[in-house]
Amino acid sequence: MTGFATDAIHAGYDPDSLYGPINTPIYASTTFAQDGLAQLRGGYEYTRVGNPTVTALEKAVAALEGAEYAVAYSSGMAAIDVILRVLLKPGDHIVVSNDAYGGTYRLIQQVFTQWGVENTVVDMTNPDEVAAAVQDNTKVIWVETPTNPMLDIVDIEAIAGVKQQATLVVDNTFASPYLQKPFDLGADVVVHSTTKYIGGHSDVVGGIVCGDDARVPGFHEQLRFFFGWVGANPSPFDTYLTGRGLKTLAVRMDKHCDNAEAVAAFLDAQPQVARVCYPGLESHPGHETAKKQMTPSAAWSPCCSRPPSRLRHSVSPPHCSAWRNPSAAWRAWLSTPPP
Ligand SMILES: Cc1ncc(COP(=O)(O)O)c(C=O)c1O
Repeated sequence: MTGFATDAIHAGYDPDSLYGPINTPIYASTTFAQDGLAQLRGGYEYTRVGNPTVTALEKAVAALEGAEYAVAYSSGMAAIDVILRVLLKPGDHIVVSNDAYGGTYRLIQQVFTQWGVENTVVDMTNPDEVAAAVQDNTKVIWVETPTNPMLDIVDIEAIAGVKQQATLVVDNTFASPYLQKPFDLGADVVVHSTTKYIGGHSDVVGGIVCGDDARVPGFHEQLRFFFGWVGANPSPFDTYLTGRGLKTLAVRMDKHCDNAEAVAAFLDAQPQVARVCYPGLESHPGHETAKKQMTPSAAWSPCCSRPPSRLRHSVSPPHCSAWRNPSAAWRAWLSTPPP
């Protein structure tokens, strides 16, 4: 039997041949015994370069994203940093959204510029702006959709149509593979902060990159090198927790979406509320695109947006608790109550 919810539980793991545990064991071992010089038993040698608990999570997420492979990292930012380091070198150029997650934006603006990587910041909701920004040396187009924080919707298919030689990377954190499959829409690489919906319980930080060597030749090997060389690997404990969260992704997302829809409808009806950023509302500028590229059709994104500090002055004064919530944990099952 297959299906998203079933795959989320079973994909990537066959019960261990020793005792047959139905759950992925936490292989808390730095080093693995060898049967002779360079004769690795199951392909594992040292946890900084690979661990069976980590592999189980990688296989599960790859199956859900429809990817050939996935490589897990210690955080979403570690995953993003590795992608950029593999795909960009001095003299290259990247096109990034004006509403990408702040950490991604800072990394590109403040770190990669030091190494001679140019960038152009565009309104990604307008594919013409992206097309105009692509240069001969553009190696990466960085899409996030829905965006953090404003829940802008970027048309992945349209951006794939204007990307030319660039690699199209999609940060699918806000949607999760349950609501959106970027590879089907033309993405070359998909990245997640698994800290959010995939982990789902506010108890573990992680990141994962999904890819396909037919789309970006040699990328998998480079991701693995960085995983081990840089030491950006996640711990077996963390990947166990993330994998446990993943098993209930489908049911949690359905509930998140139902709740968000009810909250958005309530807020939209309040005369004191200036604007509700929720792609499920027909008034949202990305509504039609969200309907086209996200499923289920009634569930666009499981959260209403709150204004981040860097945008607080550019949006109308909020008059509802969803906007005032100071927690950084919008993606958490447990949020800080409003003051
Ligand atoms: C869309 C998005 N991508 C990446 C990240 C970074 O992930 P992490 O916090 O796991 O490093 C975040 C964090 O909030 C995010 O919202």
